[in-house]
Amino acid sequence: KTWEYLKTEKRDNGVAVVRLHRPDALNALCGPLMGELVSALKTMDADADVKAVVLTGSDRAFAAGADIKEMKDKNYAEVYKESMLTAWNEVSEIRKPIVAGVNGFALGGGCELAMMCDIIIAGENAVFGQPEIQLGTIPGAGGTQRLTRIVGKSLAMELVLTGSKFDAQLAEKRGLVSRVVPTDQTVDECIRVAEKIAKFSTPVIIAAKDCVNQSQELSLQQGLLYEKASFWGTFALSDRLEGMTAFKEKRKPNFTDT
Ligand code: HXC
Repeated sequence: KTWEYLKTEKRDNGVAVVRLHRPDALNALCGPLMGELVSALKTMDADADVKAVVLTGSDRAFAAGADIKEMKDKNYAEVYKESMLTAWNEVSEIRKPIVAGVNGFALGGGCELAMMCDIIIAGENAVFGQPEIQLGTIPGAGGTQRLTRIVGKSLAMELVLTGSKFDAQLAEKRGLVSRVVPTDQTVDECIRVAEKIAKFSTPVIIAAKDCVNQSQELSLQQGLLYEKASFWGTFALSDRLEGMTAFKEKRKPNFTDT
């Protein structure tokens, strides 16, 4: 399929790659771009050949935020009626893992989009921030919520209240990204991680992602129960028996996603 604002690639090893492609606006996330992104991700989620997705931008920008020019003249009634930005959250409802490769700017909605993904790998040139306060507004797609849970209250407050940008090193130190790599290796590294995931059983991958995400929603006791139920649930899968049998027989497992 051809997109106006994306480049997508389905590789033969269970990995699909989505590149945001709006170079003249540093991948600013206009409505049509987000519509295409959600549609592409949903298609991949439903595709049995795809087990993990890599989401990236260009070397210069993952995404410089929501499209400021598109938002500028909207009034309250309009944004309320259209439930502006609500559809973005569908990215966080994709069941298969999304590995975000962030090079360059990940500002405002760009940082929020990265945080909706499951693993973030940053290039050395990555620049994160929630600069909305400089525009007279506040983050609207998770910047006050996901960022706070990840980096803690004091730093999140400072970032949201000052709009200051921060670099890949601080992002790594505070757990926003799992790793920093040379900028020209970010996408390859994301693909390697996604390929590693893609060797495993799809229903187990989905359960693992779901359980980790539930840790952000539930109390510890509820989360432990949720995890236990999912763990027990893997014993309904032939891939669970295959995995343990292969270990005992000292061979590689042959997962069938069943
Ligand atoms: C619309 C944008 C844009 C944005 C960049 N552009 N960011 N257009 N919305 N968020 C456009 C510029 O207008 C310009 O187009 C082109 O991209 C290149 O950008 P420059 O500013 O010329 O590049 P540079 O000087 O390198 O500066 C890069 C930058 C700066 C530091 C990233 O562009 C910037 O500050 N952008 C805005 C960042 C921001 O505030 N993001 C938060 C958005 S609010 P032209 O046509 O002029 O050449 C947000 C709200 C979230 O995300 C609410 C919930 C989602």
